[in-house]
Order: sequence, then structure tokens, then C-alpha cells
Amino acid sequence: MSVYSRLSGFRDVPPAARRAQLAEHTGRAPDEFRALDPSEGLTVEQADHMIENVVGVLGVPLGVATNFTINGDDVLVPMATEEPSVVAAASNAARIARAAGGFHTSSSRPIMQAQIQVVDVEDPEGARLRLLDARAELLRMADEQDPQLVELGGGARELSVRVVEARPGRYVVLHLMVDVRDAMGANAVNSMAEAVATRVEEIARGRALLRILTNKADTRLARANAVFDAATLGGADVVRDIVHAGALAEADPYRAATHNKGILNGITAVVLATGNDTRAVESGAHSHAVGSDGRYTALSHFETDADGNLTGTLELPMPVGLVGGATKVHPAARSAVRLLGVATAQQLSEVITAVGLAQNVAALRALATEGIQRGHMSLHARNVAVSAGASATELPQVVSRLVADRVVRADHAERVLAELRAGRP
Ligand code: MEV
Repeated sequence: MSVYSRLSGFRDVPPAARRAQLAEHTGRAPDEFRALDPSEGLTVEQADHMIENVVGVLGVPLGVATNFTINGDDVLVPMATEEPSVVAAASNAARIARAAGGFHTSSSRPIMQAQIQVVDVEDPEGARLRLLDARAELLRMADEQDPQLVELGGGARELSVRVVEARPGRYVVLHLMVDVRDAMGANAVNSMAEAVATRVEEIARGRALLRILTNKADTRLARANAVFDAATLGGADVVRDIVHAGALAEADPYRAATHNKGILNGITAVVLATGNDTRAVESGAHSHAVGSDGRYTALSHFETDADGNLTGTLELPMPVGLVGGATKVHPAARSAVRLLGVATAQQLSEVITAVGLAQNVAALRALATEGIQRGHMSLHARNVAVSAGASATELPQVVSRLVADRVVRADHAERVLAELRAGRP
């Protein structure tokens, strides 16, 4: 990692110059970021090999969040999102955290789990113990399915067996835990689950039905924490109110859903930019947000430290990879990974989690102070003005009128544009 992440003047130059600046800054050849230009990016022919019935490709804006320091190293973060303000907000919160040393992150080993559901078992509790007794045999069979993963230092590590009470009766559910190294791991664990299923049904004396990973990836967690200086946030009152905002999200599922959506604004943007599976990460996040009491709650927590500064922590499953799937195939995703400079999936998972925390703090700070709309207004106004037909030269004037009038609506943009074209102020 480590490039100086405070790119000065980055916002003030056009996208092509920004790409050149990235190359200069990271010491990489300009060609390595060429695929970020859509005319050089994913082709329809490449897309045709990725999914079925391809008719085209969809462009999503890809920006770079600045100011991030993670575990003492600077990192520039690619974010793909259609939502205005997300990249700027993450960069702002990262700037505040930077003053106190930035983000500190950690993660568990990259252990993914597959489930094998066994139905029609006469003695579920007996079957559970028979399966646990067969641990060594089942782990060996799973490893035989993926010698390459084993060679890379991964492989099947553990199994557990649960008896799950369901409407039609009791199911035996075996969990196979697999160290998937730098892969997201779905293919690896699914293949292993299918490979051992016949032996599992023999031992359990039942019928193996589902053989699939669980997206509740609670054995593959990433964590981030940071201190945010009270004065830079806006003072002790702002810290107090951010803590209140976090507390409401912990206590109230209605608020928690929105609070966690704000975290995912940052997380999903990096997951998408790096060609990873956004749905797997979001499903893992929401399942992790349900506590042992069954209540949906906040993924992050906010407190005040002894100096009156804000401390934030975030922990969630982060099943992302650097090998396989779109991460390797999509040319823009490859450029995004190069920009990050991460060497392992664990490092990537930690960067993503730090971005989630930054995004969360930025949203809560806005909500605890001026409200969210003001920050959104000028970028939203740009979108509305462009939809109303404003040209590049007309855009600045239309945008500033919409913001000044505090009316960001298509009909108003059309009116302002018509006035402008008629020569009226
Ligand atoms: C909007 O995309 C995200 C927020 O609603 C998050 C939050 O309320 O914390 C601003």
C-alpha cells in the first residue's frame, strides 16, 4: 500500500488528468489505469463471457477517496457508486481520522463456511455425534477436492454440526469451515460441500439436500476503529450528538437499517469497484447486524474518549477476494485493485471496513449538524440540471441557481435554463 493519499488539486482537474496523477503518484504505468476510461474498459465481448444473454455493459461512476491512512500506511481508495457525495464524504471523514493516526484495522483468517442440510434422519442427535467422529475423514475428502487451495496454504479446517428445529421436523446441518486464502471462496466451499455430501448422508443415515455456503460469514470478520478529533468534527456538542445518533441505531431497528445503509454506501462502492460480490457482502452485513437476542441493530459503535474525541468501531463479515471472478476478469476492477496496492484478500477486507466506518461518521456528522440535504444539494443539482438539458457551459449557472433557490427539481431546472437562454438573469 502506502502512497501519499492527500492528492492535492485532484478535484480541480478533468478525469483524464486525474488518472495521469494516479499513475504518477503510485509509480505505475499510465496504461495500468487506462481501463478506468469506459472507452478502454470492459468490452461487450468480454462481458459476453461473464454472464448470459449479454446486450451491453453498464457504466457506473468510479471515484477515488483520498486522505485514508490505515495501520500507518496511506491508501487511495477506488469507489464505484451512482450516489453523489459518497466519495467526498468518505474522504472528509478520512481526513479527520488522519489527524489522530488514521484507521486501525484487523481481521480474522479468511474462513468461509458451507452448510450441508441432511433431511429424513431418524436420530438427529446420534447423527450429529457420528459426523463429529468422522471429522478427519470428511476434512480430508474436502481437501482432496481442491489440491490447489491446499498448496496455497488453505483448505478445510474444521466442521461443526447443528440440529435445527424446523416446521417439518429436525434437520442435521453440517458446517464445513474452509480457509479460502485470497479467494472470495464461494466456489471452493460449494465444491467441497458437494464432494463430501454423499459420505455425510451415509454417516447421518439421511438425505443430503442443500450444499451451499452461508453468507452469514461470521468466521471471516474485518474490524476498523479510529479516533475523530472533536474540534475538527465541530466541537463537543457534535461528538455528543453523533454518540446519540449511534445509540438510537443500536436501540431502534428502524434507525439501524438506515445507519447500516450509510456504512454500506462506502463498503459496497469499494466492493463493486474491485469486482467483488456486493450481495454477498451486504447479506453478511445485515445478518451480522442481528444480535444474539434476535434484534436487528447497528454494525458500528460510537463513544467519547478521555480527551472528548469521538471513537468509532465497526466489525462485520467481509467475504471479498483478489483471485477469481470479476476481480481478475474485469479490466477496470483490475485497475482498481492496482490502485489500492493490496496484496491479500485480508488487507482488502480491512480497507473496505475502514471506508465503511469513514462513511458512517461522515453521514452521522452531517445528520447531527446541518442535515444531509445541504451536502447532497449541489451534486444532486448537477444531475437535475444535466437531465433538464443544460450544456457544459450552462451547467455552473443552473446549478448555483438551484442551490441558491433551495429548489432542486426538474421543473425548476427547466425554468432556470429557459430564462438563461432567453438572456434573463
Ligand atoms: C444516505 O444514502 C445514507 C444516510 O441515510 C445514512 C444515515 O442516515 O446514517 C445519510
